Amino acid sequence: MAGLPYIVGNWKMNGTRAMLNEVRAIDRAAARFPKVQVAVAPPATLIYRTRDAADIIGVGGQDCHARESGAFTGDIAAPMLKDAGADFTIVGHSERRTLHGESDADVQAKAEAAFGAGLAVIVCVGETEAERDAGRAEAVVAAQLEGSCPKVEGAPEKLSVAYEPVWAIGTGRVPSVEDVAAMHKSIREKLVAIYGEGGADVRILYGGSVKADNAAELLSVPEVGGALVGGASLNAESFLAIVGAA
Ligand code: G3P
Repeated sequence: MAGLPYIVGNWKMNGTRAMLNEVRAIDRAAARFPKVQVAVAPPATLIYRTRDAADIIGVGGQDCHARESGAFTGDIAAPMLKDAGADFTIVGHSERRTLHGESDADVQAKAEAAFGAGLAVIVCVGETEAERDAGRAEAVVAAQLEGSCPKVEGAPEKLSVAYEPVWAIGTGRVPSVEDVAAMHKSIREKLVAIYGEGGADVRILYGGSVKADNAAELLSVPEVGGALVGGASLNAESFLAIVGAA
């Protein structure tokens, strides 16, 4: 598995300029954890200011459009994220897939656009509770990976995959360590099937109700290369406790 543990805060639709104090605190503390790669994905309105307020941590978008520019009211293109100071973007979060009807093909096009703009990419995948109960979790995630992963030269080095079971997001519920291990193993196998040897370089993050008190256990699971953190990333103290656990 490639690289340092990667702990990413996804702020979702939360945060005004007051959050820049949390950014400064996270950035200062990140210097104490040189063996952890720390990043935040604030709302687009704060990317520029977040980059400005932080020296060490990565800064990313939460989504991007597949096109470089054009008549797409309300959307943000990957080159705009780059221009605002982003290093990466998340694509295919389940909230985008569910609430904005994004398909695997949409997610793949966004990921490829982000690479084209020079951004690293986190592609999110994950099954619903009904899919897990039906014993289809690994098949569903493998199909999402097949359809969503960018198929461009050099993709594995700048790609992370975040496994976020939909039923674990914001619910306080987390899969068992055995289920996380089985899913991450299956994701690794699928990435190798897609990319060949390069598939071993893709970092696989776990996301869904990661908190200070479960982070160490989740992050010790084989093939878990980091965490994509929602609610617990909105406060420097709780986010840094997760960084410390890594
Ligand atoms: O992208 C992170 C996410 O969906 C998990 O959210 O609040 O369960 O940590 P949360």
